[in-house]
Amino acid sequence: MHQVIQPKIMYFGTPVVLISTTNPDGTPNLAPLSSAWWINDSCMLGMSRQSQTVRNLERTGECVLNLPDDSLVGAVDRLALTTGREDVPKYKAAIGCEYIPDKFAHAGLTPLPAELVRVQRVLECPVHLEAQLVKSHAFDHGGIAALEVKVIRAHFETTILNPVRRHHVDPDRWRPLIMSFCEFYSLGGNVHSSRLAEVF
Ligand SMILES: Cc1cc2nc3c(=O)[nH]c(=O)nc-3n(C[C@H](O)[C@H](O)[C@H](O)COP(=O)(O)O)c2cc1C
Repeated sequence: MHQVIQPKIMYFGTPVVLISTTNPDGTPNLAPLSSAWWINDSCMLGMSRQSQTVRNLERTGECVLNLPDDSLVGAVDRLALTTGREDVPKYKAAIGCEYIPDKFAHAGLTPLPAELVRVQRVLECPVHLEAQLVKSHAFDHGGIAALEVKVIRAHFETTILNPVRRHHVDPDRWRPLIMSFCEFYSLGGNVHSSRLAEVF
């Protein structure tokens, strides 16, 4: 039997991204994001216009998408309810969100300069995708920005690569941190052989 409900959140289990951008004074900002999907080297990000991240990305046109594995959940959770905006929006202050100028130090993460964009990467994350903004689209009546970005350089920690096919990630070695309905999860094991994997 199915029931009609009005869920507040529809996070059905997507990888967490730590998106890094650069503030107007040149310092780095970092924010968790789970509304992200990729096709080829293009990525679409869904983020509130009230965030410092959207301001930075629209101003500079640059970001790094850092993908944490499940071991980094503590650092990601320390970044929850923080903002790089000194003038914390009222609705965020009401839920206890705090202005944190140095999110890297707050999370216990290490900044590492990117190669093609003027943004810091997160050393501890196994995947760093350096990206440029292609277009910012209005979404959900305009309160959300749907940010189309192009990945221009991709760094992968060698330990998650297929030992033979070095341009392939080995899914058995990659343990993404997953957000499902506001809770953190890891992945379970492989459930079936894949016909798609035979051709790619
Ligand atoms: C795991 C996790 C996932 C999140 N996913 C999103 C998201 O997809 N879109 C969004 O607008 N905010 C998301 N947030 C909330 C932002 O991180 C939050 O608005 C933050 O204050 C933005 O920081 P900034 O203002 O410094 O950019 C998420 C938070 C957490 C902890």
